[in-house]
Amino acid sequence: MSIEIEFVAADGQRRRVAAKAGRSVMQTAVEHGIEAIVADCGGTLTCATCHVIVAPEWAARLPPPSGDEEAMLEMTAAPREAGSRLSCQLVVTPELHGLTVRTPATQF
Ligand code: FES
Repeated sequence: MSIEIEFVAADGQRRRVAAKAGRSVMQTAVEHGIEAIVADCGGTLTCATCHVIVAPEWAARLPPPSGDEEAMLEMTAAPREAGSRLSCQLVVTPELHGLTVRTPATQF
């Protein structure tokens, strides 16, 4: 079964991309050239430049952020929102098919 994730840019442009189970949402974005995901630290939870805002209907379907992710979510360049997550911490599973995330206007 194919898994697709949709990225919605700050200007409203949408891109739906194929994702592989076991990869992170951040890796999926980088592999598809989603430029709004910078991912400076490569997924080691030390940069907060992989900030995404998960659509409300999806937020409760994701595992909650770890303490370390919570701490880094205070470091995002764009203001933290209710659905804010660090996409390097979101692991793609078949259940996430159709996941929609917004990317902030800036990661710096
Ligand atoms: S890629 Fe650096 S915190 Fe997610």
